[in-house]
Amino acid sequence: MKDFTISCHVSTLSFEELNDKERELIVAAQNATKGSYSPYSNFSVGAAVRLSDDQIVTGNNQENASYPCGLCAERTALFYANAQNPTTPVCAIAIAAKNADGFLEKPITPCGACRQALLETENRFQTKIKVYLYGTESVYRVDSIAELLPLQFVL
Ligand code: THU
Repeated sequence: MKDFTISCHVSTLSFEELNDKERELIVAAQNATKGSYSPYSNFSVGAAVRLSDDQIVTGNNQENASYPCGLCAERTALFYANAQNPTTPVCAIAIAAKNADGFLEKPITPCGACRQALLETENRFQTKIKVYLYGTESVYRVDSIAELLPLQFVL
């Protein structure tokens, strides 16, 4: 038998350590939480996607009385960005989440379905998508979606 281990490299940074464009993307994700429709979870998630032409597209979680019909913030932002800009690569995504007490100390990470959706975009444009996960304590930075989804499923 042979084993192999796959690791995921995460940088933790303070908000101040980020450059202006990184901070701008995170602020856009924070602001996007305001549009969240989340009466069932009371958990507001905002996502901001940066495209290669530098524009920022945002989204937020949209819930439904029939729970599985809802959509995460990441896919709302990603699909809108791809729908409006079908030939423009996505370079980065920032995610911020808050509950009744405000933004969370520890960053949340995208769910498996969102990772798979983001991976499709990364592969489609052959462009790594940097991930910024905002927490009030620190920001996690990951260099690509593939890093977040090892042993990826592709056709
Ligand atoms: N949610 C997101 O929007 N993104 C994530 O990365 C995790 C979870 C949403 C789905 C649901 O509306 C609420 O957060 C609670 O799970």
